[in-house]
Amino acid sequence: MKNLLFAIVISISAVSIYAQTNILPTPSFVEYSEGQFVLEGNALTIKSGTFTREQLRVLETHFNTQGIQIKETDSNPVVTFFQSKVVLPEAYGIDVGDNIRISYSAAMGQFYGMVSLLQLIDHSEENVLILPKIKIEDAPQFEWRGLHMDVSRHFYTVEEVKDFIETMAMYKFNTFHWHLTDDQGWRIEIKQYPKLTEIGGYRDSTVIGHYTDTPRQYEHKKYGGFYTQEEIKEVVAFAAELHINVVPEIEMPGHSRAALAAYPELSCTGEFQNVPGLWGVFDDIYCSKEESIEFLQNVLDEVLELFPSEFIHIGGDEAPKTRWNDCSKCKNVMEQNELHDSHELQSYFIKRMDQYLTERGRKLIGWDEILEGGLSPNAAVMSWRGEAGGIEAAKQGHSVVMSPTSYCYFDYYQSSHESEPLAIGGFLPLEKVYEFNPIPADLTKEDAKFISGGQANVWTEYIPTYDQLEYMVYPRALALMQSLWCQKKPEYSEFLKVYLDFHESYLEEREVNRAASIHIPELKIERAHDGVAYSWWGLDPNEEFVLGDSYNHTLGGIFYIKNGESVQFDRGNGYHSLMLEYNGDQQITYNLHESDILGAETEMNPAPHKKYNHNASLNLVDGILGTERWKGDQWLGFNKPNVEMIIDLDTITSIDFFTIGFLNQNGSWIYLPDSMKVSVSDDRIEWTKVKEVAIEGDEIVNRIELQLNTTGQYVKVEVIPMEKIPEGRGGAGSTPWTFIDEIQIFTK
Ligand code: ACM
Ligand code: ZN
Repeated sequence: MKNLLFAIVISISAVSIYAQTNILPTPSFVEYSEGQFVLEGNALTIKSGTFTREQLRVLETHFNTQGIQIKETDSNPVVTFFQSKVVLPEAYGIDVGDNIRISYSAAMGQFYGMVSLLQLIDHSEENVLILPKIKIEDAPQFEWRGLHMDVSRHFYTVEEVKDFIETMAMYKFNTFHWHLTDDQGWRIEIKQYPKLTEIGGYRDSTVIGHYTDTPRQYEHKKYGGFYTQEEIKEVVAFAAELHINVVPEIEMPGHSRAALAAYPELSCTGEFQNVPGLWGVFDDIYCSKEESIEFLQNVLDEVLELFPSEFIHIGGDEAPKTRWNDCSKCKNVMEQNELHDSHELQSYFIKRMDQYLTERGRKLIGWDEILEGGLSPNAAVMSWRGEAGGIEAAKQGHSVVMSPTSYCYFDYYQSSHESEPLAIGGFLPLEKVYEFNPIPADLTKEDAKFISGGQANVWTEYIPTYDQLEYMVYPRALALMQSLWCQKKPEYSEFLKVYLDFHESYLEEREVNRAASIHIPELKIERAHDGVAYSWWGLDPNEEFVLGDSYNHTLGGIFYIKNGESVQFDRGNGYHSLMLEYNGDQQITYNLHESDILGAETEMNPAPHKKYNHNASLNLVDGILGTERWKGDQWLGFNKPNVEMIIDLDTITSIDFFTIGFLNQNGSWIYLPDSMKVSVSDDRIEWTKVKEVAIEGDEIVNRIELQLNTTGQYVKVEVIPMEKIPEGRGGAGSTPWTFIDEIQIFTK
């Protein structure tokens, strides 16, 4: 879709004043002329019968929210539509002169033209609508512009799903990936197999807090729900009116515990297990025997009746082969089909589905694991574990949707602030989403043609309500769409300005919940002479914050601090409980823990992994202690053994007490180290060992405290991790992660 053929010829003599509008995603071409189009009243007239009832209802609702009426008329409408055969189906043009003309070739472009028009109108004066005189020509770069929604881990009503789709349409998304089945709940009525929803649609408990928390606690309450086939038809028809294709996902062969709870005979062991209330990856998956394949194909028969989508998603991710390797029926399938291992067996399983869908005129799409053991000829790949799967699939000539965790997982945290609701982990602020490019850097132009677009995934283990779901999606979805729509997207700062000027209040008026994370001033910590300096950076360069020190009054109680201005905290000056007030009435508290090495020069060897290296060595001596709920920036993470850190105390000093913190979060492969050693030196040549201790602890955050009673200028800390993650645990056999934060030293 790169070479756009527009029907409209641009008048070269028009004066181009500036090319910024409020429209998101940013249009391909914008040209202003001098003057304005001013319309008395607050009604835009269009020709009756131009849109279907549902489209008109949606457009009316959204224009009304902005105080603009849409009225149908048969004579001289203000907005006229011109259909041209030349433009692409999603392309549209807007020409505001003495009237408003929208050109398009297909219904989709016509709808998008209206969506953009809404964002052009200045309605701030009562009873008058003002538009700039402008020409816009626009078309998307990618054809797959998707958002995904997991309704298994948490369930959302039909009304909520439709509301989600409606907001998607207003931002020109065209693909809704509906993740309908997973371990924790089967959510689509299948008439041939009623137990899928009767039994598989409900779990009797749900894990509380993060699934890595120890000990685990559960809420023992029945949870679930499902969509009837009538409801599914309603959603699909609604989405189609808004030019959104609904791609259903029926997970196989893994993430199938809910189905197996209903029909245990489809598993390898045949034993009943309940619908789990815990998140994760489970060993019990569909057996690869013929009966399971037949069952899934029967399920697909009903799915195909409900969903006209060309692509049908069959999952394919995270299917452990533990059961298959031990199963005589699976071994039989391997023998009969001359398969060498369980990866080839997975490939065989997916190929059977691919063939089934292909015979019925559809196409299979699956997560990038479907590449393992050989990809079926017609399959498309959704690349989630980074870009490698997408690159490989494109090289093999398969269609690819890019959805790498690093840019597209909207279940990740969007800021490091404690006000963020509990999330699965990961760190994906708005600015990072904005950097997404669906075309991986090292793909050739030829191979890049196979990238059909991208999408964000919204896994809902930690998203119990629709309100919170919107919070996770907006505004990040708008940043994502820039990468999917724009041929050349503007700078992040320009996008941010348009978002803040128009879309934040637009979403507010439409009652779409959003994260305000970008409004939280960012704390920057720097080394300062004999201590550290803190400064806060908000979006508004002229904002003044109120800073109060409610514990230590060396700062003088409460005072104003400008955006970006720094305050210094000296070593040995005690503990500070800092309260920052921003945006009028919002507050954040920071606990700054004293130590006599705040900001001290510190070396680390090896360097932390680049994902967990925020502020490098200063992180260890910045006064802020790593906590249990971390969002990517508090802890330094190492995945190579024997971490050595050397702290310079400036002069030979009498050392009293020492502390260090380690994180213990085994579900994320983070383990306490086996042991550590502390040595001191006056010259960095001769070292004297002061303490060597084994490390033990049951807490998630463990602080080790050591009385050193020694002297020296340099303190060396050597941390010795356990060699391998023990058998029977997630990541068994791998080197564990060591997460370290804040070393404190107190001198005499
Ligand atoms: C996935 O996130 N397991 C596709
Ligand atoms: Zn089996």
